[in-house]
Amino acid sequence: MLTRERVDADLDACVRLARMTHELDRYPMSLPDDLRRFIEVPDALAAWVTELDGEIIGHVALRSHSSAAVLARASEALKVPPDRLGVIARLLVSSQHRRHGIGRSLLELACGDARARGLWPILDVVTYQHAAIALYDKCGWVRAGQVTSRFGDDVVLEEFVYLGPRLPAG
Ligand SMILES: CC(C)(COP(=O)(O)OP(=O)(O)OC[C@H]1O[C@@H](n2cnc3c(N)ncnc32)[C@H](O)[C@@H]1OP(=O)(O)O)[C@@H](O)C(=O)NCCC(=O)NCCS
Repeated sequence: MLTRERVDADLDACVRLARMTHELDRYPMSLPDDLRRFIEVPDALAAWVTELDGEIIGHVALRSHSSAAVLARASEALKVPPDRLGVIARLLVSSQHRRHGIGRSLLELACGDARARGLWPILDVVTYQHAAIALYDKCGWVRAGQVTSRFGDDVVLEEFVYLGPRLPAG
């Protein structure tokens, strides 16, 4: 198993993974018109995939944006300006390979990359995504509240805002 930076040639496989995750987990909740753009995240600072035997089985991205409500809640909770936040997004693991630590390792990779850029890692998760919420709780992330995020004219999501764990002093 190999985790590495995503390249453009991975995008078709990432789109297939996102389609499966939509069907199984409702993530993304509704299929966007352009699923490739959803997974690619054009404003991504970085993105990684986990590969096994040539198959993409995991994905995560780091970006600088989320909804205004998410950024405002995290910024207020951390007393950090929004441009110092790094948003971890598009975390997906193939259903056949879950509970083997892949999600955790992708989360920690993106988190470490955000910190290396001087950004405080945050994320938002729809309130019904129980597996993801269990993962964030297990990894020491701190819930900073719930917000209503609006995407376009017709998608309204209730989301928890999570803050990356504080590093031990020293
Ligand atoms: C959330 C997701 C990425 C987790 O990936 P994963 O590789 O299975 O996670 P890990 O194996 O690293 O899990 C680490 C820990 O998180 C917790 N956890 C993960 N999935 C869980 C579940 N379904 N139920 C309860 N706890 C869970 C456990 O504490 C687990 O440790 P354990 O297996 O030793 O008990 C995966 O379930 C997924 O792709 N879900 C759909 C997409 C999604 O919701 N993405 C997040 C959008 S914000």
